[in-house]
Amino acid sequence: MMTETPWRIRTVARRDLPEILEIENAQFPEPWSRRMLLEEITNSENRRYSAAFENGVLLGYLGVMFVLDEMHINTLGTRPEHQSRGVASSLLEEVWPAAIERGCERATLEVASSNLRAQELYRRFGFAPVGIRKNYYSRIGEDALVLWADITTRPLLDNSI
Ligand SMILES: CC(C)(COP(=O)(O)OP(=O)(O)OC[C@H]1O[C@@H](n2cnc3c(N)ncnc32)[C@H](O)[C@@H]1OP(=O)(O)O)[C@@H](O)C(=O)NCCC(=O)NCCS
Repeated sequence: MMTETPWRIRTVARRDLPEILEIENAQFPEPWSRRMLLEEITNSENRRYSAAFENGVLLGYLGVMFVLDEMHINTLGTRPEHQSRGVASSLLEEVWPAAIERGCERATLEVASSNLRAQELYRRFGFAPVGIRKNYYSRIGEDALVLWADITTRPLLDNSI
């Protein structure tokens, strides 16, 4: 069940890019460029970018790509001063039914091997490691874990495990 939140989630628009880039640059070792992000958000065919807003401030965003029956989580970030409030969780909760509606059965993503916080968040959504991509983040020389989740059997966040 989706819990009531003080923020609202809507599709990302071009005007949101400066705030997304601010969050990207603040916390990703290999942030996306404006051009890459613009290409992503304007590709409505198989991308879905959503963001959470509170009092006009973009708190966090989630970008996914649909490939056949898979949902690839491309990017997820929360403004540092608004972390641990459930923003990322609510964005994942919001995309889950949309993915199921599109016929997705699995979700996958890469996460830096040292990013334990994100890994814990994904674990709560049913993601489990299935492999390692060596030197995936080549600029910082870090491996990525490949995570997979079966989204049909676990549609929404379950905080009980
Ligand atoms: C990973 C990341 C996206 C998590 O975002 P977030 O909005 O803080 O995530 P949530 O708040 O939904 O959940 C994270 C924590 O908040 C807790 N939380 C969730 N809802 C909460 C609430 N209503 N009140 C208080 N805490 C809450 C969760 O239990 C979790 O705690 P834990 O990390 O100690 O287990 C964020 O840390 C981030 O942007 N990191 C940098 C970028 C990154 O690593 N992205 C992922 C790349 S794959």
